[in-house]
This record gives sequence, C-alpha cells and structure tokens, in this order.
Amino acid sequence: MNIYLIGFMGSGKSSAGRKVAALLRWKFEDIDRLVEEKERMTVPEIFASKGEEYFRKAESVVLSEVSCGSRTVVACGGGTPCSAENTDVMKSTGVTVYLRLSEEALVSRLKRSRNERPLLTGAEPEELGKRVSKLLRNRSPWYEQADLIIDAGNTDEEEMTAMIAETVRSKGAYL
Ligand code: S3P
Repeated sequence: MNIYLIGFMGSGKSSAGRKVAALLRWKFEDIDRLVEEKERMTVPEIFASKGEEYFRKAESVVLSEVSCGSRTVVACGGGTPCSAENTDVMKSTGVTVYLRLSEEALVSRLKRSRNERPLLTGAEPEELGKRVSKLLRNRSPWYEQADLIIDAGNTDEEEMTAMIAETVRSKGAYL
C-alpha cells in the first residue's frame, strides 16, 4: 500500500508529502526527482532537449517502479495522474489523495516558480492565469478521481495525515 499525492503544479505535493511520510514513518519519493536522477537532467532540461512525450514516458516508467514498493508516500508531478494507465497503477497499489487549491491560490504561488516549470515558462501574469485555468479545467476530471480530496489551503500536515490514515484504513490496510 502506497499513498500517491496528486494535484496541480504548486499545490505543495512535495513538501506536504515529506511531512506526511515523516509523521507516518513511511518512506517518501518524488516522481520528478526520480526522473531527474534517472535521466541525469532537470525536468526543464528534459522538456527542452527530448520533449514532453519523452518526459511522460519516463514519468510512467518511474511511477510503475515506485508502485512496486510499499509504505511509501509518493509526490507525483502535476501531470502524472492524467492518463488512464498511470491512474490504474496508482489505484491498484495504493490510495490517491488530491491536494486541491483554488485557481487564484495556484496562480499566486506559481508566479514565483513558473520558470522551473516547462509548461508555464515565460508566461507573464495574464498569460499565466490563462494557462493555469485551461490546464486546470482539462485536468480536474483526473484529479477528482482521487480516493480523498483535501482542501490544501486550509489543512495542515497533521490534519492531512489523519485524513489520509483514515482513508488507508478504510481500504483495509494497516499503517
Ligand atoms: C508537470 C508538473 C511538474 C513536472 C513537469 C510537468 C505538469 O511537477 O512534472 O514540469 O504536467 O503539471 P510539479 O507538479 O511538481 O510542479
């Protein structure tokens, strides 16, 4: 049993994931970091030199490798759950948790870090809002398939951990 944290770029999957894992005494893995280690390049470098399709394949391979482990909190990339194949892998090996934030909160957080994210690079404030809005609209149906949806703007990591623990137990698994 693993815990997969999903949600839009900037929703705090990696930082929440690290804390939830520490509180549960589970392992922590970050899909983007694993892809970077494997490819020996940063995510923006992979997008620039090999393209998004290559990145998506590498992301799926890393996800299926991580899914073979157990008792691991996995911070996914924003696009990881947006395919039936990846969603099936997650659903069959653990619980999925969507860290939901409003579009406004996401845009405000992403203003600071948009250049680390190839899908948002170079977007000035107005363009950034449009890109986030469009991506969020396309991706929400994937994110909303999660076993648990958490209002990430109003929930601290202790509360998140308690909610996630309850969901894990409701699936008949132990912590
Ligand atoms: C992506 C999100 C990024 C990273 C890549 C693509 C996406 O991860 O995987 O830039 O498609 O939303 P974060 O959600 O950790 O920023």
